[in-house]
Amino acid sequence: MSTLIELRRRFRAALDSLVEDAGDLLELIRPAQDARFGDYQANCAMPLGKRMGQSPRDVAAAIVERLEIEDMCHAPEIAGPGFINLRLKDEWLAAGLARRVHDERLGVPPVERARTYVVDYSSPNVAKPMHVGHIRSTVIGDALARTLRFLGHRTITDNHLGDWGTQFGMIIYGYKHFRDEAAYQREPVTELSRLYKLVNQLVDYFGTRRSVPELERQLAEREAALAGQRDLLASPDKGLRKKAEKMLRKLECQTQEARDELAAARRKIQAVDASPVLSQLAAQHPGIAEAALQETARLHAGDPENLALWHEFLPRCRLDIQRIYDRLDIRFDCEYGESFYHGQLAGVVQEFRQRGLARDSDGAVCVFLDGFDAPMIIQKRDGAFLYATTDLATIEYRMKTWNPDAILYVVDHRQSEHFDKLFAAARLWGCEHVELQHISFGTVMGEDGKPYKTRSGDTVGLEGLLDEAVSKAYGVVCANDDAKPGGPELSEDDRRHIAHVVGHAAIKYADLSQNRTSDYVFSFDKMVALEGNTATYMQYSYARTQSIFAKGKVDLEALRRAADQLVLQAPAERALGLKLLQFAEALQDTVADYRPSQLTSYLFELAKSFSEFYHQCPVLTAETETRRTGRLLLCDLTGRTIRQGLDLLGIHVVDKM
Ligand code: ARG
Repeated sequence: MSTLIELRRRFRAALDSLVEDAGDLLELIRPAQDARFGDYQANCAMPLGKRMGQSPRDVAAAIVERLEIEDMCHAPEIAGPGFINLRLKDEWLAAGLARRVHDERLGVPPVERARTYVVDYSSPNVAKPMHVGHIRSTVIGDALARTLRFLGHRTITDNHLGDWGTQFGMIIYGYKHFRDEAAYQREPVTELSRLYKLVNQLVDYFGTRRSVPELERQLAEREAALAGQRDLLASPDKGLRKKAEKMLRKLECQTQEARDELAAARRKIQAVDASPVLSQLAAQHPGIAEAALQETARLHAGDPENLALWHEFLPRCRLDIQRIYDRLDIRFDCEYGESFYHGQLAGVVQEFRQRGLARDSDGAVCVFLDGFDAPMIIQKRDGAFLYATTDLATIEYRMKTWNPDAILYVVDHRQSEHFDKLFAAARLWGCEHVELQHISFGTVMGEDGKPYKTRSGDTVGLEGLLDEAVSKAYGVVCANDDAKPGGPELSEDDRRHIAHVVGHAAIKYADLSQNRTSDYVFSFDKMVALEGNTATYMQYSYARTQSIFAKGKVDLEALRRAADQLVLQAPAERALGLKLLQFAEALQDTVADYRPSQLTSYLFELAKSFSEFYHQCPVLTAETETRRTGRLLLCDLTGRTIRQGLDLLGIHVVDKM
């Protein structure tokens, strides 16, 4: 049982005799920010006082009077305007911990009402370069799915692979016109990704060339506006001058943006024009953009040649991605890629039309949604369906197959408008009762302040990234081992194994420990550091618990049978015990707003409490046998809680470091 749930249960009983609906007031019972004021704090007397028209302190007194809590807490204290401070009794804490010793779930009860979740994550576009953003989605989605499942929810994970998009038209076009057969035989995926990049570059070249006159016009317009504003600076009217200055700054920014955009476009064009090979290809394939689209259209229409190529390419590209999943230990329940829904798309559009939810506009079929400037297009003028159409079909399929209570989409923040529209359209369509959530996340930045890029920007690049983390971890593991007072303890095999576990963990944890909605800076050195909020520190804390058992030749079975000897005396023991009892709360917080960083913060706090305890309270050399047993039990619970917590984040532990 979670301490907080139990406290809320007791408060509910007390509040029920004071007010009609105490539900939202219970949210105001929280762990105390400052241990000097107690372990938990109830702040419900203030809003309740307002509601009842009484002084909050009186209301607090009335609550305390009705509270039956003597077995759990010392007498509650009323502080300030009406805070109720609660300090748990040591015996109550110890009894709760003793129960956890025999509880595999470490005091986390399975939810009373299990929901069904579909978690859509990772979902890279096959054959296109996979980027660090896809790792972020993979890692966050995996952690959320594991946590939801552990809490007792039915959880279905689905990798919504982009396996049917326009990139295939480009690859097919490239394959038909530019393929290097020997290279394809040797390393098919490398050759396919070269072809994709080449065709994409040429398509982009022509598109950019067409956009230049418009970019030039925009720049000229802004420069003219800027000159106009400058003239106003000479105006005798002070108000007008102030306004002009403000406007000028804005226009200067906009002009600079237009200038940058034009320069970037010119650079792209120059890259092709300056290369004899590329410029010749461009001259020979002026209609490449249109032709690549047609290859996609032919594939979608079931053209046997293109379909055969697609069937040949897909498993190979898929295998390439699988290497990353294997290294990260990621598995999905299903992988219905976009291609799976292809046959449903015409039906979706027809239904939207028939029910009057979509109409033709400029030849395209559009869903007009309240609160959005542009409609959501579900079929283009040329008959092609879009990403959004597939997503609607996917919702229909998921509803029919699993009837979920929630569908979570772990996708980067740049797609938020797509999801806002998708969810609005789905609601129009009748999906009112399912929780549709975009679990959005920020960009991974490099230390140079620009979006992080792996050197080659493809799966090979991502593997290189994992290799680099492992090699950094190897350095940290060796240095730590070499510095041990009695000399190194690890064999070379041990060191390599540990570096492998620690390196992969570092990448995952660095992602998970960030507030997911903000951008974060990717730094190898920070993520493998032994100190601070890193996986390495957590794994190190775990290994420390295990090395205590090894050193003391502790029989864990026998130790656990002595669970009733757990007493909390030293403040550091008590603080650690209190933290251990909050595991269930941390998991609640993690899923409340789908933030794995809540769990990493908890684990960090726990590991810090453990370190404090370890430095203050000798374990193997404790003054008495009972104290030794009690402390060993705390070590056991700490180790198990860290291991379980990390497991929910998809991170493994090692017994020694
Ligand atoms: N394939 C997309 C991308 O790489 C992400 C797909 C996310 N899931 C979805 N149901 N739209 O950008």
